[in-house]
Amino acid sequence: NPVESQILVIFGSNGDLAKRKLLPAIFQLYLDNLLPERFAVLGAGSMEKTEAENRTDVGASLLEFATKGATDNPEKLQLFLENVYYQKVHNETEEDFGLLKQYIDDLSARLELPQNIIYYFSIPPFLYEVVAGHLVKYGLNEEATGWKRIIIEKPFGYSYDTAIDLDKKLRNGFNEDQIYRIDHYLGKETVQNIMVTRFSNGFFEPIWNRKYIDRVEITASEKIGVGSRGGYYDTSGAMRDMIQNHLLQVLAVVAMEPPSIFDSESIRNESVKVLQSLRPIKPAEITQNVVRGQYIETLVDDVIQKGYRQEKGVAPNSKTETFVALRVFVDNWRWGDVPFYIRTGKQLPEHVTEVTIHLKPAPHQLFKQRCVAQSTNMIILRISPDAGVAVDFGMKIPGAGYKVQNVNMDFHYSDLAETKISEAYERLLLDCMIGDSTLYARADAVKASWKFVDPILQAWKTNQDIPLYFYECNTWGPKEANLLFGNKELKWRPPF
Ligand code: BG6
Repeated sequence: NPVESQILVIFGSNGDLAKRKLLPAIFQLYLDNLLPERFAVLGAGSMEKTEAENRTDVGASLLEFATKGATDNPEKLQLFLENVYYQKVHNETEEDFGLLKQYIDDLSARLELPQNIIYYFSIPPFLYEVVAGHLVKYGLNEEATGWKRIIIEKPFGYSYDTAIDLDKKLRNGFNEDQIYRIDHYLGKETVQNIMVTRFSNGFFEPIWNRKYIDRVEITASEKIGVGSRGGYYDTSGAMRDMIQNHLLQVLAVVAMEPPSIFDSESIRNESVKVLQSLRPIKPAEITQNVVRGQYIETLVDDVIQKGYRQEKGVAPNSKTETFVALRVFVDNWRWGDVPFYIRTGKQLPEHVTEVTIHLKPAPHQLFKQRCVAQSTNMIILRISPDAGVAVDFGMKIPGAGYKVQNVNMDFHYSDLAETKISEAYERLLLDCMIGDSTLYARADAVKASWKFVDPILQAWKTNQDIPLYFYECNTWGPKEANLLFGNKELKWRPPF
């Protein structure tokens, strides 16, 4: 699909996300010659400023946050900035959208740009329905003059009910195919590669089922704490921030059936089936299947790391979880009774996202030294950092006897020296510009994942007996997370 001439309106254009991720991604697309010849990036922020001041600000953000290679070319940067515009819009002031409409009409007449428009909602979630309503009020959603799409950042809703409610409100003026719910994990090259690894090779897929797979682990650990995002995070927690969206989407990609054709609807039809098959965790079963934790003040390398409750914007008695580990089952023919273990947390020793497929042991153990329970064969899909795929298996240690040692065949994306791995936002923005929603979450998938996590969140809120375990910074979270395996010999695999 060619990228048609278009206007990208960014609500919240002076915010952190726009500066750090969106503008650098658009600039990179420009440098890669992927943007159409005629396009405009229209910042819509609440600050009063002139076009020139805005260009200076955008230029400064790009110099700070775009990759070095991108900013090495000052001429290109100046040329790019000529396509950047600004209109002050206070999101809660309806009349400002009348002014926005006027601005867009003038701009499109002046630049002879069709009114193909993406509205990017880089704004706090409570404003999503407000802004969508204002767009509709001024006919900015109408497609007579060109297509219209909206991109919505997570969180899409705060619970199952609020997600449904938000969806209804957006659907007052936009159809499902105009709504792009962004989940930047799906934009990661390495998450997409899971589908290619599975569906383009003859040797993975035949063993990708309950007959050969013992369990699946998904880890997304972060070294950082909540930093300056305490205010947001304290109303969210790891379950809403990481599991409901990113990690359940990764699980869906790992567990889905092969689609019969590779198009947006077929792929999303398959992944939603996985989310709809997640076995609900009943309130009485929560403690055996879910462990939550919160980091506490810790001395790490002679430096005091703040505890979560001491972070700015966090309630001093907060029970918000900064760590979650859970065991979940996908109740379908392929996966019957194979446990999927998912964990995520802040202030852990490393920043790693990876999926480990643990295969069942060989049916008959000839070499007794092999440690069967913990480590048989593994397929490790490393999402970040050091993206790649590793296969771990037993080899004879040279010498007398038959001693077995685990070794691995390890592929690193970085070995493809010529290839630059695009940032998730570059890929996702380009897809939306083209009208390809494959890597965006569909409404039914969002609902299905809320349906799964909602009862857990409810139980945490209402049942004071469910423990919140405290853990020290720079550790792998509460040790109770290992109990989820229900087998003393098993524990979470330390990342490679
Ligand atoms: C965001 C979460 O969606 O994902 C953050 O809000 C988290 O809390 C981030 O840090 C992790 O993304 P990545 O790409 O660094 O793994």
